[in-house]
Amino acid sequence: MGRYEEVFQKSIQDARGFWGAAAEKISWYRKWDNVLDDTNPPFYRWFPGGELNTCYNALDRHVEGGRADQAALIYDSPVTNTIRKFTYRELLDQVSHFAGALRKLGVEKGDTVIIYMPMIPQAVVAMLACARLGATHSVVFGGFAPHELAIRIDDARPKVIISASGAVEVKRLIEYKPMLDKAIELASHKPSKCVIFQRPMIKADLMKGRDLDWDGLTADAGPAECVPVKATDPLYILYTSGTTGMPKGIVRDNGGHAVAMQWSMEHIYDTKPGDVYWAASDVGWVVGHSYIVYGPLLAGCTTVLYEGKSVGTPDPGAFWRVISQHGVKALFTAPTAFRAIKKEDPQGEYIKKYDLSGFKYLFLAGERLDPDTYHWAHNLLQRPVIDHWWQTETGWPITANCMGVERFPIKPGSSTKPVPGFNVKILDTDGAVLGPNQEGLVAIKLPLPPGTLPTLWQADERFLQSYMKMFPGYYFTSDGGYRDEDGYTFVMGRVDDVINVAGHRLSTGAMEEVIARHPAVAECAVIGAADSLKGQLPLGFVVLKAGVDTDNNKIKEELVRMVRGQIGPIACFRESCVVARLPKTRSGKILRGIMRKIADGHEYRMPSTIDDPATLGEIEDALKGMGYAKKG
Ligand code: COA
Ligand code: AMP
Repeated sequence: MGRYEEVFQKSIQDARGFWGAAAEKISWYRKWDNVLDDTNPPFYRWFPGGELNTCYNALDRHVEGGRADQAALIYDSPVTNTIRKFTYRELLDQVSHFAGALRKLGVEKGDTVIIYMPMIPQAVVAMLACARLGATHSVVFGGFAPHELAIRIDDARPKVIISASGAVEVKRLIEYKPMLDKAIELASHKPSKCVIFQRPMIKADLMKGRDLDWDGLTADAGPAECVPVKATDPLYILYTSGTTGMPKGIVRDNGGHAVAMQWSMEHIYDTKPGDVYWAASDVGWVVGHSYIVYGPLLAGCTTVLYEGKSVGTPDPGAFWRVISQHGVKALFTAPTAFRAIKKEDPQGEYIKKYDLSGFKYLFLAGERLDPDTYHWAHNLLQRPVIDHWWQTETGWPITANCMGVERFPIKPGSSTKPVPGFNVKILDTDGAVLGPNQEGLVAIKLPLPPGTLPTLWQADERFLQSYMKMFPGYYFTSDGGYRDEDGYTFVMGRVDDVINVAGHRLSTGAMEEVIARHPAVAECAVIGAADSLKGQLPLGFVVLKAGVDTDNNKIKEELVRMVRGQIGPIACFRESCVVARLPKTRSGKILRGIMRKIADGHEYRMPSTIDDPATLGEIEDALKGMGYAKKG
């Protein structure tokens, strides 16, 4: 038996022994009573009875253990021309004082705090300060519009919101404060205070009595010590797109999360304390939570916080510059970032300018890694390019080529094998386990390992409905795929109405809800169509109300504005078309899956339940008019 097989089998057959041993690498105030409480399935709890503090494990113990002067965080911001290093001692100092400032505002264990910030060190400080106090943070990605932020405010009910005056995008400044004000106006729940970090290039107006300046508040705050929390207490809530306009509040606990992060840094990413690890993502996404902030810091690495893009900041050599300048060992990003480099620098001229001798691995996730991009990246880098598959829900990879366990040959298009702890199965729609090379639905046999979602924030029933009821005894991933004869997993894409745009997870259902509010729209459908740069792009189809004689182009422009204004620019909703009717089943269900196949030029089978087959021809014509539906 190979090393992987041995580790994997142990993780499944003796989950308690396996994770109990892994948990020894974390510092606990009180050890757990039981590694896993499985008395109330499918609500499993890891390390009940245990007490710890995640911030202590991410900062204090490294300072106490001799890493005080090692860089904990390197802030590299080509958009502001800034590079700033924070040692573990400095980061701890900033975090403990900001935690002291939050405490002055009444934030304590069990409270929720929303963080709506760009990629600046204060975002990391804010997250860790909440963890230090035992408060539960919920970071909202800055590309979301006020309406989306308002939904999250009403669900998380934060005592305090932490934000900044704005973000610096490649070609423009984005003011956050007006968006925050609008969101609070829209929300029913009102935070008692907002803390605003003023960036030098954007000045926010503060509302007297409610808003406080970050610097002013922190200047006279003493440091706060770590508050012990239960392993099962929530560290954070991270909202992610579901199939409707109401996002899902993924809950992450403290204990299981710390154990899983620490284990994954060593065994999946092959990083050791002191290594420089860079996840080029955003703190607003799960990759940012797990592998910009918590994973690398829990493991005693140096993390890179990069405020820039793979191209345009200033050129397609940006990633190579960061890797060589900071001695990055492993880079983790989304395939789309590499497709953008490939588009601008197909021959890889920029890479020749930099010394990448310390660079060992490229990890890609967030969307399917198409074989073309894999080959391009591999030929260019001549290093392992590792596709790994995971979800906000799991918090860490489900399938991967675990560099710290056993390295398998890579098969392009596959994210390799199940990570220890994840008992992945391919099922048919009746829940029967499928054999090799049979495509089906990807599910994970319960219990899920530590660090995965114990439930949805104050929504146990939705948790059951969304993930647990489809196949009792399994977590349903909503992804389709298969496994080959060597046990390699191929994840082919979502089987629900969630799409992936530039590695950002979005709900077509949420976009439909926005479009349906347009006074001229009778009904609509949004699908995700394949895009060579961003993976997928949303396309809207609208049927107008009878008698509407407004110019179609004007309506389409209004729809773009509405989606941008209510969901945000990251939805990248730019194209729609007006059609006479939508293809439906006789029972009235819109055939979005078939529309998607037509858009991507794939073969499809005419469903026997279709109401009028001619509607598919009409959709195909409309798609051709937009440059889609090309065969081959
Ligand atoms: N705050 C406000 N607006 C934001 C934002 C933020 N934090 N992040 C992005 N936006 C806006 C952008 O300005 C852009 O607006 P525009 O339509 O006015 O131009 C829009 O949202 C789309 O942004 P983005 O998807 O970043 O597109 P881009 O064309 O600027 O860049 C890529 C293209 C491929 C370089 C970029 O999408 C990328 O690097 N993606 C990787 C994403 C990633 O890391 N995902 C995390 C999973 S690992
Ligand atoms: P998110 O929750 O934003 O991380 O998005 C999760 C979804 O992204 C998954 O359900 C998949 O559909 C997709 N995804 C993430 N990583 C991969 C990958 N390596 N291969 C294929 N799909 C992926």
